[in-house]
Amino acid sequence: METPALPHEVICHILTFLHPSDRKEASLVCRSWNEASRDHQFQKNLIFRFPACTSSLGFIRGLACRPRCSLIISHVDDSSVSRQVLEEVRVHLGAELEGLMLPRSSMMESSLLKLLPSLTALRKLDLEGLDSLFMSGVFLSREEHRQQVRKAMKNLEELNLSDLRYLSDLSFNRLTGCTLRLRRLALAGCHIAFEFDPYLGCAVGPGSSAMLSLRNLLRLLQDQSSTLCSLDLSRTSITPESLRSLALVPGLHLDELNLSGCKKLRDYSIEQLCRHQRGLRKLDLSGCTELTSRSTIAVVAELKHLQSLSLSRNWRVTEKGMADLTALPSLSSLDLSECVNVSGEELVKGLSSAQPRAQLEKLSLKSCTYIQDVHSLARLLTSSLKELDLTSCDVLTDSSVHAISYYLAGLRVLRLGSCKLITDWGLLGMTEPEDGKDPSKDKDEENGPSFTRTFGNIGFFQPPKMAFEEKPRLVTDADLRTFREQEGTSLRAIKGLEELNLSGCSNLSDVSITQVLHFPVLQRLSLAMLPEISDDAVASVALHCRCLSSLALSGCSRITDEGLARALPHLPRLQHLRLAHCDGITDTSLSLIVQHCTRLKTLDISSCKDITVSQVDFLQSHLPFLENVQYRFVGGADANLTL
Ligand SMILES: *[C@@H]1O[C@H](CO)[C@@H](O)[C@H](O)[C@H]1NC(C)=O
Ligand SMILES: *[C@@H]1O[C@H](CO)[C@@H](O)[C@H](O)[C@H]1NC(C)=O
Ligand SMILES: *[C@@H]1O[C@H](CO)[C@@H](O)[C@H](O)[C@H]1NC(C)=O
Ligand SMILES: *[C@@H]1O[C@H](CO)[C@@H](O)[C@H](O)[C@H]1NC(C)=O
Ligand SMILES: *[C@@H]1O[C@H](CO)[C@@H](O)[C@H](O)[C@H]1NC(C)=O
Repeated sequence: METPALPHEVICHILTFLHPSDRKEASLVCRSWNEASRDHQFQKNLIFRFPACTSSLGFIRGLACRPRCSLIISHVDDSSVSRQVLEEVRVHLGAELEGLMLPRSSMMESSLLKLLPSLTALRKLDLEGLDSLFMSGVFLSREEHRQQVRKAMKNLEELNLSDLRYLSDLSFNRLTGCTLRLRRLALAGCHIAFEFDPYLGCAVGPGSSAMLSLRNLLRLLQDQSSTLCSLDLSRTSITPESLRSLALVPGLHLDELNLSGCKKLRDYSIEQLCRHQRGLRKLDLSGCTELTSRSTIAVVAELKHLQSLSLSRNWRVTEKGMADLTALPSLSSLDLSECVNVSGEELVKGLSSAQPRAQLEKLSLKSCTYIQDVHSLARLLTSSLKELDLTSCDVLTDSSVHAISYYLAGLRVLRLGSCKLITDWGLLGMTEPEDGKDPSKDKDEENGPSFTRTFGNIGFFQPPKMAFEEKPRLVTDADLRTFREQEGTSLRAIKGLEELNLSGCSNLSDVSITQVLHFPVLQRLSLAMLPEISDDAVASVALHCRCLSSLALSGCSRITDEGLARALPHLPRLQHLRLAHCDGITDTSLSLIVQHCTRLKTLDISSCKDITVSQVDFLQSHLPFLENVQYRFVGGADANLTL
């Protein structure tokens, strides 16, 4: 008997549960699924990315019926093909297009001006790095062009002018004079003259045709203060005094501010900023290396609505103020990576305090080498945490991994790269038995470290064993039988994991990788630099993690063609594959890749000594979506010759 077809609405409803990339896959199943995937509820805010080339022309025409989409068109220049691409966009999407981004492009004013006036629904324009447009200084110098662009851009909300070397007051004013209701402005990496004009040696006045000046920027902020709420001045040389004048612009109420890499900033300017911009919800102060805990304290005192804070790479920041920080009820994302002086004690204290307190979803403690009490952090963040980065936290032990698995079963992203003390026992959720003892008896004899069921008794606060030199006792078959009966503190408990990074955890072997890495929705996995793992591990991973789109195995020297032959047929979604320094793979693997990984976008096979350049050429000509192959030093080529 034939099963009746599911109604359109039911299929649509099922599709709402899928991740957009899964929905894209599902649309290829059959005609009715394809139609369901084109339902208007899935068509909002779609972003399409393609290069400016002949093969994109048909694709653009196919987009004609899509309302309100955004395009990322790379490599646009002044060639006739590029002009043709822009013309198709104008004709088929013109008044519907919501966003336009032109990365890695290089074109003159005339090409862009043919398109811009037609984009009347445009809300987001990204001209990042498009130096060719601004170099001559005549962009929008003609009033008639400005009028056309102004008419089209009246609803533009986001303008990205990052990394433009030739942006001057004149060109900036001509462009922003067409965009009267900006909400977000990005000037990351621009050469802004904050106090002095380096050419003239005096304060810059507005109207410079050579540079963008602070005064000019302040004027724009003031003019559009009723709408402007997000500003990106990262990687600029903004001075403390300039930040102060910016914070004081009348009527300006910033929501988001990015000051990443602004090395000239000092604590007192952050204090002033916080005092005058109390509505800030997102603040990025990463890489502001002069800042100390005074800034943390200022943030805590003033920014009661803060949701996201980065203090990454600020090594002067210490524990001070951290307890109060985690008591901020709206805080959901905290980046303390490379804050080497943070040990986490105060974080734990703050998170243990009475409500209200932060419901952290994202926490990065990457390279915080003094982090001790991962157990308490995991316990306190049980209900909220989705992303945890503990890369290079050297003191992390197996019992920390047990705590993460047990308490943070809702994690989506877990990064444990270079945590060298982690062993198979950690991933398996077992404690390494004392030598000679039967592991199952161990449990009855004492309250000390034991298996999962008595997890509550595990002594997480034990200092790590100091005898690092001794190799851990290997997991036996008997141990694995016990493992299969219980899963509680095994990493396997984190069923919804989407990204896992175990690179450089060099004590891991096939035992844990084959038993534990069973993650149905895992998309990104790094097992790079695990010298112990073999073909069995790779085959098992492929069998049990079939959603993988990115897999890193660089430096896994025991992996051979056979492992890939067993794995690749199960990984049809693979887009990024890293196999650098895998000496066991040969040209055969490249043929397998061509055969099975038809969606591959990037491949790294550098330093694979048994791969030949001719096979790399073959691969490049057979994979339609391939964007980048790194193959330096293949075939044992001499470094000097290929450089
Ligand atoms: C500016 O554009 C770049 C590249 O497209 C992007 O990475 C960045 O997030 C954008 N910045 C803002 C504030 O939108
Ligand atoms: C801030 O800018 C830096 C560098 O331009 C970028 O890497 C970072 O992602 C930005 N931060 C946020 C929160 O967007
Ligand atoms: C923070 O760490 C650095 C490098 O480890 C050290 O030199 C510095 O004295 C520490 N700063 C504070 C305030 O503890
Ligand atoms: C995994 O972590 C390492 C650092 O340990 C980093 O270099 C690498 O880029 C990460 N890999 C992925 C795929 O994110
Ligand atoms: C982990 O592996 C490293 C070598 O990568 C070794 O020096 C260390 O002793 C091992 N640690 C344990 C606990 O076995």
